[in-house]
Amino acid sequence: MIKVNRIVYAAFETPDLNAQIDHYTKVMGLTLIDRDNDAAYLSTGADHHTVVLRQGSTARCDALGFQLPPGASLSDYAKQIEGHGIRTKRLSDSQPSIGEALVFDDSKGTRVETFVSTTPANAGFQRAGIAPNKLGHVAFNVTDIEATVGFYCGVLGFKVSDWMGDFFAFLRCGPDHHTINLVSGTAGKMHHIAFELRDWTHIRDACDLLARDRVPLVWGPVRHGIGHNISTYHRNADGQIIELFCELDRVNEELEIYDPRPTHQEFPQKGKIWEDIGMAANMWGTPPPEGFLD
Ligand SMILES: [Fe+2]
Repeated sequence: MIKVNRIVYAAFETPDLNAQIDHYTKVMGLTLIDRDNDAAYLSTGADHHTVVLRQGSTARCDALGFQLPPGASLSDYAKQIEGHGIRTKRLSDSQPSIGEALVFDDSKGTRVETFVSTTPANAGFQRAGIAPNKLGHVAFNVTDIEATVGFYCGVLGFKVSDWMGDFFAFLRCGPDHHTINLVSGTAGKMHHIAFELRDWTHIRDACDLLARDRVPLVWGPVRHGIGHNISTYHRNADGQIIELFCELDRVNEELEIYDPRPTHQEFPQKGKIWEDIGMAANMWGTPPPEGFLD
């Protein structure tokens, strides 16, 4: 089975392209690499693009970009995906930096764009704004969590790291504890997009930058039990939640244990179903604001 290796970008439709570009460049510290009439391509630094923004009628995340392992054959991958009864489409030069791609829809209607190689823009990291290391994960509200977990694990090769009760699943495709999170909801939509910062002092500086730009936190800082990351949450120009995090658990895949940390509850810490929802959500105590998970 060919498994996706890492998340590279998230693509959004936005009713206010300029305001979103402003947030991602001036506040988040991403670099605007490319812009045409249809789309803006923004990079955290390492990849050609990390966020794609397209003018549209609604604010929504409509696609995710995943890199496949080196040497993977897109033809073989197409057969594998179609073996699940899913239609695929091969695209050539459909976006900057990616020559050949295989695209298809996940079980909740988000487009999955897969490719083996991508050419970096060599933009480097910004010296202004928050300037994260990378895109870490994207979380979605889903109406059928079992079906969506089944798709990401059975079709794309993700593994479940932890569950919060029976309503919030954390899935990984590499050493990071989670790359896709799925939370049960009454409507399907993106819940938040998360960027990795370097450390706790980077989070402090990011909070000060957000304060300077009059962008309030909506939750945090917190220490999640699940994943053990320190996180803050704020909203971008479209009102979507952006998480900034550091110290996320790293997984030893062969042993299926997490690298030891003093913040762990068990030694070794392994994936499980967390029944203590308060501890799973925030070890430091403050619960999420009303409606945060909706
Ligand atoms: Fe998150």
